[in-house]
This record gives sequence, structure tokens and C-alpha cells, in this order.
Amino acid sequence: MSVAEKTFPAAVVRAKGGRFELEQVSLGKPQHNEVVVRIVATGICHTDMVARDGDLPVPQPIVLGHEGAGVVEAVGDSVRKVVPGDHVVLSPLSCGLCPPCQDGAPLSCENTLALNFSGCRLDGSHAVHSHSGQELHDRFFGQSSFGGFAVAGERNVVKVRKDAPLELLGPLGCGIMTGAGAVLNSLKVTPGSTIAVFGAGAVGLSAVLAAQVAGASTIIAVDVVPARLELAKSLGATHIVNSSSDNPVQVIRELTGAGVDFSVEATGRPEVLRNAVDALRSRGHCAVLGISKPGATVALDINDLLMSSKHVHGVLGGDSIPDIFIPKLVDLYMQGRFAFDKLVKFYPFEQINEAAHDSEKGITLKPIVRIGASA
Ligand SMILES: NC(=O)c1ccc[n+]([C@@H]2O[C@H](COP(=O)([O-])OP(=O)(O)OC[C@H]3O[C@@H](n4cnc5c(N)ncnc54)[C@H](O)[C@@H]3O)[C@@H](O)[C@H]2O)c1
Ligand SMILES: [Zn+2]
Ligand SMILES: [Zn+2]
Repeated sequence: MSVAEKTFPAAVVRAKGGRFELEQVSLGKPQHNEVVVRIVATGICHTDMVARDGDLPVPQPIVLGHEGAGVVEAVGDSVRKVVPGDHVVLSPLSCGLCPPCQDGAPLSCENTLALNFSGCRLDGSHAVHSHSGQELHDRFFGQSSFGGFAVAGERNVVKVRKDAPLELLGPLGCGIMTGAGAVLNSLKVTPGSTIAVFGAGAVGLSAVLAAQVAGASTIIAVDVVPARLELAKSLGATHIVNSSSDNPVQVIRELTGAGVDFSVEATGRPEVLRNAVDALRSRGHCAVLGISKPGATVALDINDLLMSSKHVHGVLGGDSIPDIFIPKLVDLYMQGRFAFDKLVKFYPFEQINEAAHDSEKGITLKPIVRIGASA
């Protein structure tokens, strides 16, 4: 059977705020620079729910999913990066031609919206087709990985080693890469330094894990949920602060004297960003990862910012070059030095709505839906 004749289940969102409905879809022929991937498993990220609910303006009906991992099934004529049978993790699609792409920052690609959120290819066509005859949108993050097969671009497939558990690796393409990349790529946390991570979700805890890899001597996790703080401790946080009962800036100053060298904001709350900047020592750096409501603003103490020479960085996707960074994270995981499996819970594909619910309620940190047979 050729790729173009394959029929498989995909999770389709047909109405804003609706459910993921599993229905049979089929693939068209991949274009010359595309890669057909048999999806083994896909992580669920908050952005999937934001798009499902219509708060991220993607056209519906659509196949979402952007933390896919799977096996290359077929490649277009010009693809050189991978061959059928390779194991891959899918990351956001970038153009490769704009100044940020040329400058080694593909996640800041100037064509991100058209490539990842328009619901179709740049030429208006689709890779996935509905059997109902109704137009089905796809290309979410250049992949739409909530289905048995996904069509990605050559640029956003990341080849990974075959002895790693492929079903676990999808979240490395977004949430985990973001937290770890903020620490290792953006902040470049140094051995012996001090860091505070605000928000102990999948992103913040990935930052905690990476801070240990970087050799930070003091890693302070701040959250409002005791169970998450306990998990942070088991993953390497040297101190935990429950900011619903304690003032985190005060506690951080008591622990460090002058404040932390680095902070990470991974909650998306303006008042927490203020704390993350206030908790810095002179010449400290804060990475802003949490996504807020559209138009959200924060008031910072201007004189403190300049008198203390503080730096605040907006960070997308951990400033990663996925082809380089994701294999490094896989190696660290395989060496037992980056235990992101502790954040994960697996669900069968049929329970994708339960998985999304558990993530939204904070019951599960990082759900992964198993879609196809393991490689
Ligand atoms: N910048 C990027 O490229 C990028 C990529 C992926 C995700 N994100 C964003 O990162 C953020 C974190 O993602 P996640 O998956 O870890 O989410 P999450 O909801 O699992 O984690 C957020 C954590 O913040 C905690 N929190 C809430 N209020 C708090 C407060 N007042 N003080 C301290 N902690 C508080 C919650 O208890 C929770 O543990 C989200 O906003 C997400 O959209 C950004
Ligand atoms: Zn995401
Ligand atoms: Zn670009």
C-alpha cells in the first residue's frame, strides 16, 4: 500500500472548546521536502488545549498535536536528513531562510505563524484528508501528530538514537526542550551558581533537571502545590518554597544573601514574573517562559532593574536548535542524568480527552498518548 492510500485514526477538533474525536483520515502524497512519520506516541502540551478552545487562532476542524515521536515511513525526493526506519522527534517547523533561522535561532523563525498555525501548507494544500469530504486543517507545528501518521518538513524532524525509548521522547520537541533549553542555552547556567525556578510544571521541572546538569549549587523551586514541590525536591531542587504561604523573594534572599544568579518564570503569571526579577542578585538573568493571556503586562521596578544591571529575557522553545539540542537531552536521559520520565504518564490514544483533562486539572504533569506500536 502506498503512503497516499493509508487510512488511520486521528484526533479531530471540530468546534471551539470541543472534544478530540477519533476519526478515520487519509494522507495525500508528501511533497519533495517532506517526511511521513508513523507516530508511536505524542505528548500533550497546553498549547494543544489553547488551540482546541479557539484561544490560539488556528482554523478548525483540525488535527492538533505537536510533541510527536515516531518512525520515518517515507521521504520526499529531496530529503537527505533521514531515511525510512529512522527514529525521529518532531519539533516546530521553521523556514531556514529568514534572519533568525540563518542566525541559528529556528524557533524564532519569522515565518512561524504561516508554517505552524495556518492549518495548511504555504501553497494552501493539506497533507491529511477527512473521509467526510469536509476540508480538514493540519500542519499544526508543521506536524499535526495526534494521528497514526504525520507529515513533517525535513527541517522539523530530529533524528534520535534507536536504543532510546521512542514512546517517551515526543515532549522533548516542546515543553521539556523549553525548560531545559532556557537553563542550558539561554541562561547558560554555570557550575556553582544559584537559580530559582518559579512554577514546578513540566517546563519548570525540566529547568530544575537541567540546572543540575549545569552544576548549579543552589536550585530553589517555587510553586503553590505541595506535591509538585516534593517532586521538584526528588528531581534535584535543593530548596522548595510554597509561595501561597511564604514570600518567595524574601525566602530566596534569606537562602542566598544577595539573591539568585538566575531565575526562570514558568507559570505565565505577571505577579510571579515580578517575583522572579525581584529575586535576582545584581547582574542576574531572568528567563521568561510562561505564556500569559494576550496583552498581559507586568510592572517592574525600573531603578532596581538598572541600578542592579538585571537582565530579563523572553525565551521561546529554550532557544534550542532542535537537531542539536534534542539528541543531547536524549543522551543525558540515557546516562540517567536527565530523568524527565518522572514527569510523564502514558494514556491510550482512545483516552486523549482524559489525558487533556488530567493535564488541565494538574493531575498529570506531562501526558503522553500512545498512538502506534512501539518501534
Ligand atoms: N516559552 C515557550 O516556548 C513555552 C513552551 C511551552 C510551554 N510554555 C509555557 O510555559 C508555562 C508552563 O508550562 P507547564 O507545562 O509547565 O505548565 P503547568 O501548568 O504544568 O505548570 C505551571 C506551574 O505553575 C504553578 N503556579 C501557578 N501559580 C503559581 C504561583 N502564583 N506561584 C508559583 N507557582 C505557581 C502551578 O502550580 C504549576 O505547577 C505555560 O505558561 C506554558 O504555556 C512556554
Ligand atoms: Zn507545546
Ligand atoms: Zn525562518
